[in-house]
Amino acid sequence: MKYKLAIKGGKPILKKPLPNVYNIGDKEIKAVNNLLKRGPLSDFVGAKGDYFLGGKNVKRLESLFCKKFKIKHAVSFNSATTALHGAIVALGIGPGDEVIVTPYSMSASATCVLMNGAIPVFADINDKNFCLDPKSIKEKITSRTKAIMVVNLFGCPADFDEILKIAKENNLKIIEDNAQAPGAKYKGRYTGTIGDIGIFSFNVHKVIQSGEGGVLITNNKNYAFRAQLCRNHGEVYSGQEVDYSAGSIIGSNYRMTEIEAVIAYEQLLKLDFLNKKRLELVKYLTDKLKNINGLELPFVTKNSKHVFYVYPIKINEKKLGISRDLLVKAMEAEGFPMSLGYTEPLYMLKVFQDKKISVDYSKGICPVCERMYEKEFTFTTVCQYSRTKKDIDLFVKALRKVLDNKLEIL
Ligand SMILES: Cc1ncc(COP(=O)(O)O)c(C=O)c1O
Repeated sequence: MKYKLAIKGGKPILKKPLPNVYNIGDKEIKAVNNLLKRGPLSDFVGAKGDYFLGGKNVKRLESLFCKKFKIKHAVSFNSATTALHGAIVALGIGPGDEVIVTPYSMSASATCVLMNGAIPVFADINDKNFCLDPKSIKEKITSRTKAIMVVNLFGCPADFDEILKIAKENNLKIIEDNAQAPGAKYKGRYTGTIGDIGIFSFNVHKVIQSGEGGVLITNNKNYAFRAQLCRNHGEVYSGQEVDYSAGSIIGSNYRMTEIEAVIAYEQLLKLDFLNKKRLELVKYLTDKLKNINGLELPFVTKNSKHVFYVYPIKINEKKLGISRDLLVKAMEAEGFPMSLGYTEPLYMLKVFQDKKISVDYSKGICPVCERMYEKEFTFTTVCQYSRTKKDIDLFVKALRKVLDNKLEIL
């Protein structure tokens, strides 16, 4: 249909932006109110004793995580970033050690390695699920490599069959940054439970949230204890209780509050419902987009469950007849912001470019990631619950409007 595009001064499809996604309900409100009446708002003490491991609500959340993901240990943190640092400390990874990381993720997936004085080494991604490419991981392994940081990006499980094989053959640990994929499954197994340690985030943008917060899960008792020490001034513990063979520990204050814990507890109880709602919207959107030539729609590994933190789309500029950048700008003008390539490859950030270590962070080291960032990749958040099918109809209407009238802006 012929319309004047909003980017050229026409009327936008959305007159005002969609409201923020918000999934806090009555149960979370009641739990917080009850806690506020009685306190304490945090029940950690940074000294040996019962409260070194936190208060009753923090422990209750950790128990629910263990039950839900059928795992032996869960250690709450005040963010996934600090939990990622806890994972590096738990594994005893430090100066001189290398960890293979992805360039396509939130920065903490790589900077957590720097936080303990170790070296992040970037491997490339594949352009199907946007997670680490096993072939590239193999090429980056050296005698100093200790672990692989696998990010289940956008809610999609990484290629674990091959990654587990590589880790086994090379005696490497796996940390799963599962911040974006709570409830995702790889061939029947929950992501986050496949590696040696898994990390979850409860920041305000995530599927389940408590404002801020995170959890580390593992089946290894020693990793769990080292993570607990990292969380709460662990230097106060010394002596026989801890296995220090992987190094002594200086802790920090990475403690979750009781308020965050009661919210995260209620949210975790709703995880399956929230994922189900998201997946209904995903299916609805996919059905509407599948016949548009030039859009490559999300890939899901066979027998696996993607939970769609966002809805990823790859643009084939030639087939679509418009560049990714122009499409995104035109959609934004219609009222539907879309991503311009997600994040810049992480090695291009100043903290890596200013490196004082001998490791290659130059442009060109991960060409697939660079191509996604510069030309082909975009995503929409229109499938995030509590959005509705009506919102998706408007998104598709805007997209059709831009594509049908693209000649106006070429
Ligand atoms: C993949 C990934 N890892 C780690 C983090 C850090 O999470 P947090 O904000 O809880 O520290 C995020 C947050 O955006 C993320 O998306």
